[in-house]
Amino acid sequence: MKADRLRASLPVGSLGLPLEYAPRMRSTNERAQELARQGAPHGTLVVADEQTAGRGRAGRKWLTPPRSAIAMSLLLRPESLSEAGAGALAVVGALAVAEALENRGVRAWVKWPNDVILPEGKVAGVLVETEWLGEHLEHAILGIGINVRPRSVPRENLDFPATCVEQSVGGRVDRIDLLLAVLGRLEAWLGQLGSRDLMRAWEARLAYLGQHVTVFGPGVEMTGRLAGVTPKGQLRLALPSGETLTVGAGGLSLRPIDTSGKWATLSTAAPEGRGKASGRTRR
Ligand code: BTN
Repeated sequence: MKADRLRASLPVGSLGLPLEYAPRMRSTNERAQELARQGAPHGTLVVADEQTAGRGRAGRKWLTPPRSAIAMSLLLRPESLSEAGAGALAVVGALAVAEALENRGVRAWVKWPNDVILPEGKVAGVLVETEWLGEHLEHAILGIGINVRPRSVPRENLDFPATCVEQSVGGRVDRIDLLLAVLGRLEAWLGQLGSRDLMRAWEARLAYLGQHVTVFGPGVEMTGRLAGVTPKGQLRLALPSGETLTVGAGGLSLRPIDTSGKWATLSTAAPEGRGKASGRTRR
């Protein structure tokens, strides 16, 4: 990646400077955490061409081979942000990627909680890591990994198929242009955390809305109809009993229930009716 060209195009709004770029790094999230603890300002961006210990959600590894992907972490120091608002940061990350892709003609959806998917599979993931001092958010690291070229697509240990942007575009994609586009969409949405517009934009891109899904994680498996999301980033799952469960992301993942293997049948249709929310919440 040509770091000079990237640097020359920054900042995007208030985001992107200072920039720390390295051809190889353990994890951009890890490095951004270090910089945050040393007092780096809001908007600091860490980018690596290759990650040797990239972090995924729920303790998983994230693969970033050289010259093939985008690995970026943004340090955010919002003036004030509730725990719920912090939950929405992951939403903003996924939405920003989906919109940046769409501006390149790639229709993308957000698979709850924060995967970006194309009909062919997962193309990007978001990992938000926060540090709190009591009720006060010290900082949040918004980490985004995008599979751009075919060699960035992991082949093993997948619980969901994976793909890359170039496969969908059918040609070369400039990683710096895409990164800048993502930053631009992040800038646009970060000012609207908690807003109805953000919720609407998210739900409009929510994969499997109205469809039957399984939500699963260590020791948890729930099945129901995906009824929508809450402003805190929780999933609303309509159970066969008629009750609607509110489920926090935690280490959970989602997959559509489809016995014919058509997991990629994505829908943006409105949910067919909504059950009443129960007070039960998993965090
Ligand atoms: C997921 O599990 O889907 C989230 C993956 C997030 C990966 C990105 S790559 C840039 C940043 N640095 C990391 O170590 N992880 C995130």
